[in-house]
Amino acid sequence: MDLFSSVDIEPARKRIAELTQLLDHYNYEYYMNDRSEVSDFEFDRLLRELSDLERQYPDLASPNSPTRRVGGEVNKSFRQVTHRFPMLSLGNTYSIEEIVDFESRTRKLLGNSAFSYTCELKYDGVAIGLTYRHGQLVQAVTRGNGTVGDDITSNARTIGTIPLRLRGCYPDDFEARGEVVYPFDAFEAFNRQREADGDEPFANPRNAASGSLKLQDSAECAKRKLMFCMYFMMLPNHWEPEGDRSVGDIMTAQLSSHSGRLEAARQMGFKVQPYIKECKDIDEIKAFIDYWDNERWNLPFAIDGIVIKVNQVELWDTLGLTAKSPRWAIAFKFKAQQVSTPLLSVSYQVGRTGIITPVANMQPVWLGGTTVKRATLVNADFIEKMDIHEGDSLLVEKGGEIIPKVVGVDMQKRQPGAPRIQYITHCPECGARLVRAEGEAGFYCPNSDDCPPQIVGRLEHFVSRKAMNIDSLGSERLEMLYQKGLVRDVADLYDLTREQLVGLESYDSDGLRRASIQDKGADNILMAIEGSRKVPFERVLFALGIRYVGEVGAKKLARYFKNIDALMSASVEELASVEDVGEKTAGFIYDYFHDPRHQRLVERLQQAGLHFTVADLHINNVLDGKTFVVSGVFSRFSRDEIKAHIEQHGGKVSSSISGKTDYVLAGEKMGPEKLKKAEKLGVPVISEDDYLRMVSHEEV
Ligand code: IVH
Repeated sequence: MDLFSSVDIEPARKRIAELTQLLDHYNYEYYMNDRSEVSDFEFDRLLRELSDLERQYPDLASPNSPTRRVGGEVNKSFRQVTHRFPMLSLGNTYSIEEIVDFESRTRKLLGNSAFSYTCELKYDGVAIGLTYRHGQLVQAVTRGNGTVGDDITSNARTIGTIPLRLRGCYPDDFEARGEVVYPFDAFEAFNRQREADGDEPFANPRNAASGSLKLQDSAECAKRKLMFCMYFMMLPNHWEPEGDRSVGDIMTAQLSSHSGRLEAARQMGFKVQPYIKECKDIDEIKAFIDYWDNERWNLPFAIDGIVIKVNQVELWDTLGLTAKSPRWAIAFKFKAQQVSTPLLSVSYQVGRTGIITPVANMQPVWLGGTTVKRATLVNADFIEKMDIHEGDSLLVEKGGEIIPKVVGVDMQKRQPGAPRIQYITHCPECGARLVRAEGEAGFYCPNSDDCPPQIVGRLEHFVSRKAMNIDSLGSERLEMLYQKGLVRDVADLYDLTREQLVGLESYDSDGLRRASIQDKGADNILMAIEGSRKVPFERVLFALGIRYVGEVGAKKLARYFKNIDALMSASVEELASVEDVGEKTAGFIYDYFHDPRHQRLVERLQQAGLHFTVADLHINNVLDGKTFVVSGVFSRFSRDEIKAHIEQHGGKVSSSISGKTDYVLAGEKMGPEKLKKAEKLGVPVISEDDYLRMVSHEEV
């Protein structure tokens, strides 16, 4: 095959080395020094050149190539790995007295030895260990239970602040430990995108970081903009300096203290936070703690305390370990900040599925770096459990995260005889009597047809990116279209005309303009609506907004039933038999499609030309009997889409290459192992273009 024609390999080897060095340098400047030395365009061009060469010469592709930063490997499950050195935890305390005890105990135990402490931030993220051999990252493992963790190497490679290859001088074999954190700005942008896409936002940056490291698709992890903060270098008893050996002696001396190790790590290319201080006594430790208790809100990421370590590594053995943690270190944890503030009123928000969320409106109060005046009261059960009365003062807490939480009632301030909060019985938006389904913690408004926030919410969900992706219709414009009586349900979008749209304007109660549509805006809207007619069935199904039918569920339902008629006539049992669809969701789907209003809506959307069958993607059987293995990243399809495409054309998709495989469909950054195996078994490896030619050629 062309792919493997053995032209002289040396020029390719040389160019790959050049490109790798150049791209590594640009990455380093970008992630460590916030400096862009090339345009995005030039960077992408170089990366593509490297990626093309690696595809042509898979044997020359390094697992730590800069091309791995963008991800592409898929982890079906994460291999369990036993840590070479157990990942201990730290003794921790909320009490400053215990820190004083720790310090005097340590001083006594160390007797006459000269020593100091390092104080540093305790990052609130996910602990991981990175193994480096001969300057190359070879493995990244989560802490897990301290003994066994998950191998998340391909996801870790996508984190820009994790060096794939070390600089200068480094030990030939060691482990770098640290915390993966989600910086606040990236986390907020990510959550906002999730909400716009109709996905549940993450509760805090730590959960989001943890979820991101466990993503199956490393390309998805690459988009998350996580950060690695190195806090510990674990050295085995025997090691040699490698790399730039001329500084080997200097480095060896440096590695005798914890602060020296972190400084050495910085020179090797790790992002080591600058907030570390060498302290000689308890007063300096206390001052560091006090400073960061106030200042932590100004950091760009979450911390939950301060870690104090004995700085001199040779003294660690003298102090030894307890069952779970070293005696030479301790963590001081910050208390969540709590305030008590009067509850002024409770308001009720109505979501797109009619779910009511009560919200506490409170006397504005300064808490953890921001003014807090609103916080969720979750649902009716929460209010009941907290036993909130009118005029109560609420205890509001903020941990290392951003979102304040109501954690209780300040009983000392309860006014005698104050009545309990009476939960509303009718929808605050449309007046319908609220319903509480059996076993549900909250109420919902059943008036889905006439309740304005439900109607606009459904429209917002319908146009969202992962649904119909009509991006020129934002919330304000949708609300305007609804208020002007032009759109009441999602099918109405397909009847909109240019004349109706041009010149529309809406104002808020202060007379300020909220939304408007001019000529160009109208054209964009109509073009986006037109484009949405091509959206595949599974996304149309998701766009309908059936309760609990998310993106994945919709995909599974579409693949299983193939068309809307089969889906609409399915029994609850059959619906529940689909992977990822539970009993409760099956019930909602069944009820949805047995409602005549929804039957009429589907009919109108069909008339508008939307896809309601997977067969709409020009299904045929040109690939009948052919088995494919799909690997790598594709430019026109996601991996799931290309698999579906193969199946829609009669082919089969298998996960591993064997003698029965007819073709390996190779995208960018396909694993070299797979290529080797295909070659060994003589299975043809085809590109995305070859594949499309194959399908369209046969179709003629
Ligand atoms: S040192 C043997 N330093 O806190 C010492 N840990 O129970 C190993 N953590 O989950 C830990 N920031 O991931 C150390 N600057 C820091 C840290 C830190 C956060 C985490 C660590 C572990 C927990 C300790």
